[in-house]
Amino acid sequence: MNIANEIKKLAKERDAIILAHNYQRPEIQDIADFTGDSLELSTKARDCKQSVIIFCGVHFMAETAKILSPHKRVIIPRVDAGCPMADMVTKDALILKKKAYPDYKVVTYVNSTADVKALSDACCTSSNATKVVENIESDKILFVPDRNLGHYVSRFVKKDFIFWNGFCPTHERLRVEDILMKKQEYPHAKVLVHPECRPEVVDMADKALSTSGITKFCREDDSDTFIIGTEEGILHRLKKESPHKKFILASKKLICPNMKLTSLEDLYNALLNMESEIYLSDVVIKEARKALERMYELNK
Ligand code: 13P
Ligand code: SF4
Repeated sequence: MNIANEIKKLAKERDAIILAHNYQRPEIQDIADFTGDSLELSTKARDCKQSVIIFCGVHFMAETAKILSPHKRVIIPRVDAGCPMADMVTKDALILKKKAYPDYKVVTYVNSTADVKALSDACCTSSNATKVVENIESDKILFVPDRNLGHYVSRFVKKDFIFWNGFCPTHERLRVEDILMKKQEYPHAKVLVHPECRPEVVDMADKALSTSGITKFCREDDSDTFIIGTEEGILHRLKKESPHKKFILASKKLICPNMKLTSLEDLYNALLNMESEIYLSDVVIKEARKALERMYELNK
């Protein structure tokens, strides 16, 4: 059988949309109805007309889709595709921290569990974090869980911050020396990194952007060579969208094993068996949804 044709046929029968994050394997990005960054995928999941969402990404992303569209069935082909950063903050630890800092507003990166979102004042993604923090009605911010994204926001918004001590192990592996080496090889290249990178790496970049922010920048900028400081899966989309330009991965260590788990076979099986479905309690959906809706309101 031609697995790609079977996937397409099954998706139609199931009234399913296939969403894929920019870091997914090339063959998953190619078969998806829509590929994007966290904010775009959440919005697409919320607004699409299909009753089933097949989410090729990591667990927190599928949960976010469920929170925003509780009446839709949300399926993740690999339930084991987690995010170590999301696991660096637990509900109990956040409850304790909130007790210690009651006058701080909790702004939580979407790379977090539904339970943690439910305890937050607002969520944010890498593409709207600065606006959310700027517009939230407090000068005291507890930023959860990514200390690097929090630090990035603090460059632009002068507020009193407490950063949770979480990070993305994949982006954390990128070092200043890696960028210096690539810069020596490609002195005229523009350096684009994700704000999940260490502050000293962000210092060396021409821009720090979300994954779709990077793809947009590369489409529109006149340069012909770019050093890319984010997960390697994005190179597929970059090359597809700008075939005449050159993209250099800043380090071969930039691979997120969780983002690489989902295969075409997994996607086919997910559609065939409608597994694994995301289930969340009504209370968690209600509270987490408030924080996500606040994000959309504050991103203006
Ligand atoms: P983007 O929102 O920039 O796609 O980043 C999400 C992310 O970190 C996935 O790991
Ligand atoms: Fe989590 Fe980092 Fe992988 Fe994104 S790249 S899913 S933040 S571990």
